[in-house]
Amino acid sequence: MPIVLKSRDEIAIMREAGRINAEVLQMLVDCLRPGLVEKELDEIVRKEFKKRSVIPAFLGYQGYPATVCVSINEEIVHGIPGDREIVDGDIVSIDLGCVHKGFVADSAVTVAVGNVSPEGRRLIEVTRESLNRGIEAARAGVRLGYIGAAIQACAESEGFSVVREYVGHGVGRQMHEDPQVPNYGNPDSGPVLKEGMVIAIEPMVNVGDWRTERDSDNWTVRTLDGSLSAHFEHTIAIRDGEAEVLTLP
Ligand code: MF3
Ligand code: CO
Repeated sequence: MPIVLKSRDEIAIMREAGRINAEVLQMLVDCLRPGLVEKELDEIVRKEFKKRSVIPAFLGYQGYPATVCVSINEEIVHGIPGDREIVDGDIVSIDLGCVHKGFVADSAVTVAVGNVSPEGRRLIEVTRESLNRGIEAARAGVRLGYIGAAIQACAESEGFSVVREYVGHGVGRQMHEDPQVPNYGNPDSGPVLKEGMVIAIEPMVNVGDWRTERDSDNWTVRTLDGSLSAHFEHTIAIRDGEAEVLTLP
């Protein structure tokens, strides 16, 4: 499938989608505390999305049963919000997507709840920074591999590893469009970034080994070695040659 370039008008709608997604994601972050049950996050999303007349992008996607992914500690991504209670010391990754006027926005954050170990806190900060490096690297005229190389250099320089088996992606009319956006690899690889491209950049960084395994629920992805993992994601558009972050409140 060819990469779809978005028009100025389409990016204006995606900006609204991104803002709404970011606002609701921030609401979820603000209510995280020990004792909160994962499912409550899904309930908040349903209510807040309805209020804002947007549709959950994840619900029903390949049979996914919720509006949001909640992945705790050694869980990397795609955790299904259930009856689990968040406890003091957890690191909680929340991933959210919405569809607004036919366009998708997708973003994620990892949050330290209460007394998190220094290593857990450092993992969160390094993963956030690696996303920022990836965003800075995303410019018209460079190859896509430049983004992943910047992310990988940042994470590995701190002794962490970058997940290989899950990657970022083009986004817009569909949640997953071409191209795939790896968080690692050769800077001189991949297609050249162009004005109007919209992609989701989403580094997943592990304290230990990069390998992953999937839970018996067929969704939750966790680190194979049981080490902590963090995840940050923004949807960005290439505008005037640079990355404009669309998923900001
Ligand atoms: N942000 C995730 C992604 O980009 C969302 C997919 S979760 C799913 O792949 F549940 F919808 F599959
Ligand atoms: Co995504």
